[in-house]
Amino acid sequence: MLEDDIAEVLIDAATIQARVAALGAQINADYDDSQNPILVCVLKGAFVFLADLTRHLTFRHEVDFMATSSYGTATETTGVVRILMDLDRSIEGRHVLIVEDIIDSGYTLDYMHRLLVTRNPASLRTCALLSKRERRQVHVPVDYVGFEIPNRFVVGYGLDFGERYRNLPFIGVLKPELYQNRT
Ligand code: IMP
Ligand code: MG
Repeated sequence: MLEDDIAEVLIDAATIQARVAALGAQINADYDDSQNPILVCVLKGAFVFLADLTRHLTFRHEVDFMATSSYGTATETTGVVRILMDLDRSIEGRHVLIVEDIIDSGYTLDYMHRLLVTRNPASLRTCALLSKRERRQVHVPVDYVGFEIPNRFVVGYGLDFGERYRNLPFIGVLKPELYQNRT
């Protein structure tokens, strides 16, 4: 069982769902149908968050996907970000909201933000479910944050370790023996 690999549940499923609903309400207050924003989901980690968030949004919007990868080991980034898959459509003149799973060093969001700005969107905001502020290497403005979490490597609700655990409905910390063996 995947759950047997978890040392501690950091944020349980009900708490996540309540927070995602609250973020949805906050975002609903900031956009309307006429803006028809594009939510840009950063794959793979944000797919679960986006799926839940989009169903709380009451204004007209579209979703698109972008896949990035940062070089490094499974748990440490080097700051070099690569685009593996780009957006389907142009964002020129469009309102864009980047949806991320977690901001750790900040390199991924910083890179995405700088890249998308060059495509001249009408506005560009960012939303992240999780943030580890004490790990930040580069300052990135985040408009909507679900939870500030401590400096621990977490899995579940879209977040993986070696592509596992994304389907857990909660955010948890792996047992140290699993973690140390592979990094
Ligand atoms: P950053 O570029 O260092 O901010 O890291 C962003 C990416 O690293 C996230 O989108 C995740 O894919 C991954 N990441 C960072 N911290 C964690 C974690 O605690 N668990 C799982 N993935 C993480
Ligand atoms: Mg990610």
